[in-house]
Amino acid sequence: MDSKSLLEELNQKTKQALAGGGAKRIEKQHESGKLTARERIDLLLDRNTFVELDRFKVHRCTDFGMEDNKVLGDGVVTGYGRINGRQAFVFAQDFTAYGGSLSLAHAEKICKVMKMAMEVGAPVIGLCDSGGARIQEGVNSLAGYADIFLLNVMASGVIPQLTAIMGPCAGGAVYSPALTDWIFMVDKTSHMFITGPDVVKSVTREVVTKEDLGGALAHNTRSGVAHFMAEDDAASIAQIRELLSFLPQNNMEDPPRVAPTDDPMRRDEKLRDAVPSEPNKPYDIRDIIHSNLDDRYFFEVHEHFAKNIVVGFGRLDGMPVGIVANQPAVMAGSLDIDASNKAARFVRFCDAFNIPLIIYEDVPGFLPGIQQELGGIIKNGAKLIYAFCEATVPRITLITRKAYGGAYIVMSSKHIRGDVNIAFPGAEIAVMGADGAVNIISRTEIEKADDPQAERQKLVSEYREKFSNPYKAAEMGYIDDVIDPAETRPKLIQALRMLKNKRSVNPPKKHGNIPL
Ligand code: HXC
Repeated sequence: MDSKSLLEELNQKTKQALAGGGAKRIEKQHESGKLTARERIDLLLDRNTFVELDRFKVHRCTDFGMEDNKVLGDGVVTGYGRINGRQAFVFAQDFTAYGGSLSLAHAEKICKVMKMAMEVGAPVIGLCDSGGARIQEGVNSLAGYADIFLLNVMASGVIPQLTAIMGPCAGGAVYSPALTDWIFMVDKTSHMFITGPDVVKSVTREVVTKEDLGGALAHNTRSGVAHFMAEDDAASIAQIRELLSFLPQNNMEDPPRVAPTDDPMRRDEKLRDAVPSEPNKPYDIRDIIHSNLDDRYFFEVHEHFAKNIVVGFGRLDGMPVGIVANQPAVMAGSLDIDASNKAARFVRFCDAFNIPLIIYEDVPGFLPGIQQELGGIIKNGAKLIYAFCEATVPRITLITRKAYGGAYIVMSSKHIRGDVNIAFPGAEIAVMGADGAVNIISRTEIEKADDPQAERQKLVSEYREKFSNPYKAAEMGYIDDVIDPAETRPKLIQALRMLKNKRSVNPPKKHGNIPL
């Protein structure tokens, strides 16, 4: 063939590959409110940076008439490109070809980009929209999933792995996303479950809708499986791009510092009144977080789940930081099973990727109750202790009000290698709240008093004066300083700068045994 014919053949094949499952199915995809795999990649990557791999790859299945049913690319578009100018790898399942179902060839394409990403140290983003295992392929499809799971685990803690669910994701197929660091879901058009409503009904007789069982809202608010929810594909992709802007490319890099756009010495006099003096009055910890961060901008993650703890990213003097904060506005900021899991996973992510942690503490303790005890608050709370104890990234803790009991220790106290621990003047660092303490240690005294009510009140205020302040802990060096709340931002930035070259290592081991 001459060069002209060769080029014609290439163009022809390329056209075929770009067409995916064909115009009709693309139309159906759009009608159901979804973008195609290629449209999603175009939105995800910087303009004209996508380099496709394996666009001519096809499956090798010979059963069920599949020999004559070959779509170039085999239902997944893979390759690499740039996001905010930085290298990234991507695979996007193409629902228009075999419902995006996974054959061995399809899995091989995904594994190829994952291996490349690990070798060059860059994030992998998976955009999932799939009917699951390619039914015609049988065990070969399962083998493909297994190969992906193994790579997910090998890549964990080495490169950031992000997954957006943008259509169906059912059966064992959910476990690749579950093994990655972050799950994004699109409201109404994405669903994740091990078994769908029909199987649930036949096995347990429970009746449930697809949406309630595995929709974006269900997984963002109730199961905690997903970290982000967006109204459509484009908004979901914008969230992915934003999250990546805080992350290093891999575990050997520092997170990307940007040119600071906010005065590092900026004071905020309003913070002096941000925390109510009444110990039980709620306030929104996010007001303080916003005030402290560059441009008052906080990118909250896992926002809709376990709202009694707040986690997310921001920048201090251009440096990305991870925020973990008790939220006194929800359940008084107490730590329960969900909050412990949410925060522990976040701490471990930040530690794996060298992102310093800023901890805001206002916590009355672990949540009491039968449901919590029998649900395993002991082992789940232990996860958070474990995560903070093993974290070697710079850790700065600010106690805004209550730091009671075990929860005082957990929230990155000095005792578990918190680097810089500071407190507002109204902080209460004690074994427990004054009311509870007096009830226990002075019960007889109160009972015997002529006026038990007055006696009780006297003892409570004595206890409060003695213990409910930050100075006992400061005397011991358990906190480094008590600060004027107006100066929080400068104080955090000074500490962060000081810790920039912190080096800390844990004893060599194969791996620890976090209480799962
Ligand atoms: C092969 C599949 C497929 C699959 C869908 N298709 N799922 N082909 N294997 N798993 C094809 C359909 O035949 C159809 O082809 C096209 O994709 C679109 O499917 P529709 O059913 O028309 O679309 P829709 O009505 O939107 O329904 C989507 C769906 C449904 C809910 C995903 O297709 C479905 O229930 N599929 C089967 C899901 C499933 O049971 N998968 C296996 C799970 S077990 P045409 O040619 O008509 O366009 C599993 C194990 C993994 O995944 C284990 C990992 C460890």
